[in-house]
Amino acid sequence: MCGIVGYVGHRDCSDVLVSALTRLEYRGYDSAGIAVFEDDKIKVAKTQGRLADLSAKMREEGKPHGHVGIGHTRWATHGKPSDINSHPHTGGNVTVVHNGIIENYIELKEMLKRKNVEFCSDTDTEVVAQLLNLYYKGDPLETISKVEDMVTGSFALGIIFADHPDTVYALRRESPLIIGVGKDETFIASDVPAILQYTKKYYLINHNEIAKLSFDGVEFYDRYMNPITKELQEADWDMDAAEKGGFPHFMIKEINEQPESIKRTILPRIYNGMPDLSECGITAEALRNFKNIHIVACGTAMHAGMVGKYVIEKLAKVPVNVDIASEFKYREPLIGEGDLVIIISQSGETADSKSAMLLAKKLGAKTLAIVNAKGSSIAREADMLIYTHAGPEIAVASTKAYMVQLSVMYLFAFELALAKGKITESECAKYITDLQEVPEKVAETLSHVVDECQHAGSTLITADSLLYIGRGLDYALSMEGSLKLKEISYIHSESYAAGELKHGTISLITEGMPVIAVATQNALLEKMISNVKEVKSRGAYVILVCDEECVVGADIADDIIKIPKISEILMPMLAVVPLQLIAYYTALAKGNDVDKPRNLAKSVTVE
Ligand code: M6R
Repeated sequence: MCGIVGYVGHRDCSDVLVSALTRLEYRGYDSAGIAVFEDDKIKVAKTQGRLADLSAKMREEGKPHGHVGIGHTRWATHGKPSDINSHPHTGGNVTVVHNGIIENYIELKEMLKRKNVEFCSDTDTEVVAQLLNLYYKGDPLETISKVEDMVTGSFALGIIFADHPDTVYALRRESPLIIGVGKDETFIASDVPAILQYTKKYYLINHNEIAKLSFDGVEFYDRYMNPITKELQEADWDMDAAEKGGFPHFMIKEINEQPESIKRTILPRIYNGMPDLSECGITAEALRNFKNIHIVACGTAMHAGMVGKYVIEKLAKVPVNVDIASEFKYREPLIGEGDLVIIISQSGETADSKSAMLLAKKLGAKTLAIVNAKGSSIAREADMLIYTHAGPEIAVASTKAYMVQLSVMYLFAFELALAKGKITESECAKYITDLQEVPEKVAETLSHVVDECQHAGSTLITADSLLYIGRGLDYALSMEGSLKLKEISYIHSESYAAGELKHGTISLITEGMPVIAVATQNALLEKMISNVKEVKSRGAYVILVCDEECVVGADIADDIIKIPKISEILMPMLAVVPLQLIAYYTALAKGNDVDKPRNLAKSVTVE
């Protein structure tokens, strides 16, 4: 999704804006631009393409020189990617950058056209610029406040007024925005990594609040223009965490960070050898009283919820529904008081997940957010909160965030099962001991399977389509394996419950079609092996992922990837590693942009 930045300070503004936007590239974009005050005049440089194209254009046509400005990377929603549709957009006196969607832009555009306002782009953003310009009578704050009342939708805006060359304004509703504060300089940004090279200090800005950045510092106002005070936050990670650190891609760096991420996430939640989630307001009594659990999320986070469902139902015997957030809202879900709705999100800004959470609250359910990004919207608005401590995840394909989401799912399931009296204290203690072994086993897996996964990647590049199959927890996991492969290698794949194949899908199997079979659950092994034989005998090229103690004939599959053994219920945390690596090496072999796959954005802040 779009990234916005802004700067007021002593440095060269164009350089700061481009450099800050580089740290937001992970969000996905198709065009870029900046607007900087040069000799008290706004100078705009923008282009379709990457930031490198913008820099090249500025080298050719001249870079704006100044100390105050705004910048943007655009992920097209209204109007195709083009130079004209790139931000910033100007209406007379006012220039803006925007992340989000102005829902009533058509109606506003018609109104403006009736007043003879002319438009040059197809964007909803230009409407905001023109609207601000129409009502501007010399007081920026008053104008922003008025226009804020007129627009509907979600947005974060950076705004400059031609006759206020020392000030940047920012306005937020729904879309993420932070205000960074350095020594004699201030920033606006969609996310913390953008400012980390300059400062770790920042303010969170709430819905409908306005920030005014000038050489005197930053001031905040509510929608009625009343000044407000805010608490300064400090990022607990630095530039290294947001850099590749010697790895060729963020994705492979993040895969390798998983052991540490798990430790950071579980260790503070283990007390005297038992799970302890009391920090998020969860008490044993509250846990006992929940009748149903719903897990609502999107993409990878939803897949973590699928594993959570199997584990919670198995151990705590509480029914769990897993919902795709974008479906949840529109199917009139049967939830209410006494239910717990768990929202899982890395970014904490996913629009579908956020609106699902708000609906759940409205219906009377208690909400628990499992979120990675500190201070994000979902984190702030949930009744209860558990932070995962993956650190910044930059690659669009989520890996370490999934791993820590799983970690929390297990901790939660253990604590719930104990509270419900479905497992004894000693059983619970054993589960916790096993969970504590996971980081080391993940590291071991990482050091053992790289060659096989590289080989699998080189085999898969010619495939048009493939299947992932598994049963039980392995099925839940294979959904994530399939998504990972699809999103970065662009090869079509589906995950199937292995037992379901014969009910239709097996007809797809032809000579050489790859099938990745995950078989880590002993009780289901025999049945899985039968399914593997069924596809193999029809010509499939089978890659089997199983544990090191699994006894199968060498001819059962074309490739066998063996992973370390751990308590069976925890096997998804190890088995996901080869699936992540297979996706990575396949995308690499195809020469794809691994960290920034086409059409995708890291944080999906529109519905
Ligand atoms: O930030 P969130 O966890 O809410 O994001 C949800 C999905 O958009 C995300 O997991 C997406 O599926 C990833 N790109 C998958 O790798």
